Amino acid sequence: MKINLANIRQEYAKGGLKVSDMPDNPLPLFEKWLNEAIEAQTAEPTAVLVGTVSPEGTPSTRTVLLKALREGKFVFYTNYESRKGTHLANNPHISLSFVWHELERQVHVEGIASKVSAQESDAYFQTRPYKSRIGARISPQSRPIANRMEIMRKFVAEAARWLGKEVERPSNWGGYEVEPLRIEFWQGRPSRLHDRFLYTFSAQDNSWKLERLAP
Ligand SMILES: Cc1cc2nc3c(=O)[nH]c(=O)nc-3n(C[C@H](O)[C@H](O)[C@H](O)COP(=O)(O)O)c2cc1C
Repeated sequence: MKINLANIRQEYAKGGLKVSDMPDNPLPLFEKWLNEAIEAQTAEPTAVLVGTVSPEGTPSTRTVLLKALREGKFVFYTNYESRKGTHLANNPHISLSFVWHELERQVHVEGIASKVSAQESDAYFQTRPYKSRIGARISPQSRPIANRMEIMRKFVAEAARWLGKEVERPSNWGGYEVEPLRIEFWQGRPSRLHDRFLYTFSAQDNSWKLERLAP
């Protein structure tokens, strides 16, 4: 490698977090940070890195877009037969990492994923552009394919089939909602002395415990 990676470093000084900034419930604060990322026009503010675990116990990640935050749950849409989908069918433990580099912030969520209702998936599916709805119907997400032509042929044939009709959501495509059990807010600070606050949900007393973590 020609570039010396060891020399690439930045000081983080855009903000700070005090315990007095931290509400009892982390979800309104998450919403505030997400809104601030949208307002600051960060690249893909709703993008989130989703971590799942295979039946063999090996972790993997990929990016999706957060499509709703409702009743304290994080909602995204995907193919239920994809790699992540087969992982979640076996083990619903999931991680969600939001990284907003422009604001020197990250939020890490860990929790339990479950499928949203068919009605909710149908409603969201119909808001997607026509071509995305067609794409969702024909893509065997995460499976090997011979070449790009194969998928383009399927796309064109399916698009012709549904022309002028309401495209039906395929049963293998839909939403997951993530019930958070652990939420960490991270704000970069100078000299790598970052601010980290961890919320852990206690089901016993139905409340969130707050701790400051070392950077
Ligand atoms: C910015 C961005 C947003 C994406 N959004 C989604 C999404 O909302 N749903 C989805 O299934 N894949 C989305 N993808 C593609 C996934 O990262 C991934 O390739 C796909 O879901 C297959 O993952 P898997 O094989 O691990 O299941 C997105 C990729 C990027 C870069």
